[in-house]
Amino acid sequence: MIAFVFDEFNYLLAYLREMGLTSGDFTIERYPNQELRAQLKTPARNKDCAIVGTIAPPDHNLVEFTLLTHTLKQAGASSVVAVLPYLAYARQDKAQAGEGLGMAWAGQLLAASGIDQIISVDIHSQADAELLPIPLKSLNPAKLLAQSVKELHAPDIVIVAPDRGALERVSQTASAAGVKRVAHLEKVRSKGVTHLKLVGEAKEKAVIVDDILDTGETLISAAKQLQKAGVKEITVAVSHALFTGQDWQKLWRWGVKRIYCLDTIPAVTAMRSFRIKVIACGPLLARSLRAHLARGR
Ligand code: R5P
Repeated sequence: MIAFVFDEFNYLLAYLREMGLTSGDFTIERYPNQELRAQLKTPARNKDCAIVGTIAPPDHNLVEFTLLTHTLKQAGASSVVAVLPYLAYARQDKAQAGEGLGMAWAGQLLAASGIDQIISVDIHSQADAELLPIPLKSLNPAKLLAQSVKELHAPDIVIVAPDRGALERVSQTASAAGVKRVAHLEKVRSKGVTHLKLVGEAKEKAVIVDDILDTGETLISAAKQLQKAGVKEITVAVSHALFTGQDWQKLWRWGVKRIYCLDTIPAVTAMRSFRIKVIACGPLLARSLRAHLARGR
């Protein structure tokens, strides 16, 4: 298999090579009139290929990803798997009157461009898989997120889901960390996110596990509620840390001492804070690609 990796994801290359994958070269440039142009430097004819990148904003990422997919198929690639460590548009998974379904739209673009399979980490919901017109493999982050719990060396700890929907992820993380105590918060949405009460036992230390930290609104509200319930020290563990805007930094004011996140978003690899701990998702992705190949796709 040849992996065509967008530059910002080069930190995953070593893991892919360890699994025996070779890397392919390509360029994406613009004509003077700004139209994009993709060119392969590595032949892809009759090869199984993977593209590692993102369709998340800025929007040119989606255009470049789908153009490269089309280019590989034009060049005769036998198959193209999209490796999208963070699956953008996945939160647009419910039909709302007068609104498009972002996940279905993005999936149709990927499929029409020639993607045969998507591999991602911890996708937002099962509904996403149903909206996509191509097979999706969502890798389970539980063992990686469990690191956040194990490193605390606190046997008397509770792992908290910020809503009922996150309970399965939380239970799997708890079991991977060997922790028995799991709780969840009741969450309502009306003009923003509000957490009403903790369902379960409060302990001095808690780890909140969620899929996405975006603006931080959800986790700030959850942290406030945990403090009210008597929790003194909070650790946050998320699969995808988008760190949009500045408001998420208010987490530090609400008892959050550290944030663990996977490196599914390239920008986190450059974050320099002793309170932000980045866990490599490369081994998980590389193993999955290897298994995908071994199954003969
Ligand atoms: C919600 O359903 C998700 O699981 C996340 O909790 C949410 O999308 C995070 O977004 P923000 O950080 O902007 O609240």
